[in-house]
Amino acid sequence: MKRVFIRTFGCQMNEYDSERMLTLLKGEYIPCAEPKEADLILVNTCSVRKKAEEKVYGLVGRLKHLKKQRPELIIGVCGCVAQQEGEKILKRLPHVDLVLGPQAVYRLREALEKVRAGEGPVVDTEFRKDFRQPLILPELDGDRPVKAFVTIMQGCDNFCAYCVVPYTRGREISRPPEDILAEVECLVRQGVREVTLLGQNVNSYGRKEKGFPSFAELLREVAAIPGLWRVRFTTSHPKDLDEDLMRCFAEVPEVCEHLHLPVQAGSDRVLKRMHRRYTKEEYLAKVRRLREICPEIALTTDIIVGFPGETEEDFAETLRLLEEVRFDEIFSFKYSDRPLARSTQFEDKVPEEEKARRLSLVHQVQERITRETNESYLGREVEVLVEGKSPGNPSLWTGRTRTNHVVNFSGPEDLKGKLVHVLIEGCGQHSLRGRMLDSQ
Ligand code: SAH
Ligand code: SF4
Ligand code: F3S
Repeated sequence: MKRVFIRTFGCQMNEYDSERMLTLLKGEYIPCAEPKEADLILVNTCSVRKKAEEKVYGLVGRLKHLKKQRPELIIGVCGCVAQQEGEKILKRLPHVDLVLGPQAVYRLREALEKVRAGEGPVVDTEFRKDFRQPLILPELDGDRPVKAFVTIMQGCDNFCAYCVVPYTRGREISRPPEDILAEVECLVRQGVREVTLLGQNVNSYGRKEKGFPSFAELLREVAAIPGLWRVRFTTSHPKDLDEDLMRCFAEVPEVCEHLHLPVQAGSDRVLKRMHRRYTKEEYLAKVRRLREICPEIALTTDIIVGFPGETEEDFAETLRLLEEVRFDEIFSFKYSDRPLARSTQFEDKVPEEEKARRLSLVHQVQERITRETNESYLGREVEVLVEGKSPGNPSLWTGRTRTNHVVNFSGPEDLKGKLVHVLIEGCGQHSLRGRMLDSQ
């Protein structure tokens, strides 16, 4: 059996695609832990910020000596940087054999055959409008995971001014509901208890297709699969978050009380230039409604600081919004120019040092709010789905609350995959600690 080494950058959709590639290679390749042991090296790349892209060139560049030692080694660059750069990758990295965009990763076997037949290098960055993500039923082996991702749609139609994703992932295409249900059922049969449905904007699932359910309807169908205990989804675009979906948090027991709702900025002027198509007040109104429907819901968000033209006053609006909403956790980024993204042409760029200053202010404010949110769990009893031993401390178990907070606790053997009740007795910046009360 040959060996494959795979390294994944970027979002959960890339992690999902990497898993599918491993499944496609089953029977021919087994995964290995080091590039030097591999017959095939795949780097699944992200282009969302410049830093992510640079990492790829660094990593793949360093593989050159392996290819020199073993010319039969096959090296592939997949995913969003592959899509964006195409042939150009071969100029900078001539030792690469495969360049596969996000749709083409599903054509990996054909591409490999061509390389082996001496027809390489292969560059496949074609977007097909009628692209249909094949149903590749997952085969979990070894240490089976308790939770899994399931991509329900490819691409994005929103064209936020800063974002490269519509160019790297193409237009929005929803997977047929029967494929999604079959995939989740297959995962559940193999012991998975929690799935996260993935799309760049899951709220618009099925809108372009005739006869497809809405996302809220799909979510209810997935949640009804016997043996599946928890369902999550990401990402939601605030402009498309509707009442039907909000009600799922209160009405569908399997739907966990956590929503990632990227706001990006607090100033209406900046939101408009970002082409986000909601105002701060519209965002806050959705948050209020969500909390009315589901008071215990945990909210997380993404923030960009230093978008072109963001003034000190605009930025202050972002800080105010953090104080108003009090997110459980945020992911914050310095604005970065991306090829093809519209804002790259905007002339009023914010200097790098100023972006760094704003980012650190955002961190300061949110660190306090996150700490206070974590402290509010002290003395509370929570339900935890146990994922395995804590990577930081193998004498502890680790899992997440329904609200997506990490909990570490000690307990007897064989808890993996169980739902347990834990009394929270301590907290750090990124996790909670507790004592197990009972298991179900
Ligand atoms: N589809 C999702 C997320 C896409 S990318 C959504 O709409 O929210 C994940 C996050 O990366 C974005 O939410 C945004 O905060 C950040 N991001 C995207 N492009 C960026 C850029 N050019 N510079 C800095 N951050 C960016
Ligand atoms: Fe990018 Fe906006 Fe699409 Fe998200 S919704 S992927 S930020 S264009
Ligand atoms: Fe990155 Fe592509 Fe995901 S750019 S964030 S890997 S869609």
